[in-house]
Amino acid sequence: MLNFAIDVAREAGGVLVQRLGAAKVSNKADIDLVTEADLASENLIIERIRSYHPQHGILAEESGEAILVGGKRSEWKWIIDPLDGTTNYAHGYPCFCVSIALEHAGVIEIGVVYDPVRDEMFAAERGNGATLNDRKIRVSSVEELNGAMLCTGFPYNVRERPNFTRDFANFTMAAQAVRRDGSAALDLAYVACGRFDGFWEDGLSPWDVAAGVLLIEEARGKVTNFNNEPLSIYTPKVLASNGLVHEAMLRVLSS
Ligand code: IPD
Ligand code: CA
Ligand code: CA
Repeated sequence: MLNFAIDVAREAGGVLVQRLGAAKVSNKADIDLVTEADLASENLIIERIRSYHPQHGILAEESGEAILVGGKRSEWKWIIDPLDGTTNYAHGYPCFCVSIALEHAGVIEIGVVYDPVRDEMFAAERGNGATLNDRKIRVSSVEELNGAMLCTGFPYNVRERPNFTRDFANFTMAAQAVRRDGSAALDLAYVACGRFDGFWEDGLSPWDVAAGVLLIEEARGKVTNFNNEPLSIYTPKVLASNGLVHEAMLRVLSS
């Protein structure tokens, strides 16, 4: 199953790169975009799942949930973001990825995040660790916020939710550096491999985080909601870290 997810993510990434700079862009909402490439990538992934795992359910960003198999809900569900970082993609900013996860009876068992620009394949299977291009990865060992590079993102309704700037300002004052890269799935993968020490965002969807959360857990990091409770990928507030700066990040979020 992991190899299947890796192959499909690589193929979908190829679709994204092929159309980079040429894909037609439309608006889902005021600042929320979708491109032809999102749809082409999603169609390809769904088509592969339907061919190889026709009994499995699917939750995909652009087409929603398609879980009825013979009138029954499958225990297996593929959770797909066919292009995470659409705004970057539409502007030709080369920071985007494909995210594919497989949930079984409510537990994420497989997660793959593929960056086709750098040809970086982040992959994890529950209980078997996480890898980047087949090499084992681990979260960083930074212990203090003062030495930490953090990352965040803003949801598309940021204009109605000005508290984002407060958290951003507070983390900017507390950390060594804060980045806003525009692809939550890739941000989480970067926490898993130690490039970022922590990540927070309020307003995420299951397809943004399903694969990245498993990557971080398997790389021995920590993922919770903003109250330090175990994360459900179906709730929007996500705090992810190397574990060591988690408490300090929680304190900033509650200040
Ligand atoms: C978005 C990106 C972005 C995050 C947004 C997401 P999309 O996903 O992950 O980094 O800040 O909250 O919606 O729309 O590019 O798939
Ligand atoms: Ca996304
Ligand atoms: Ca997307």
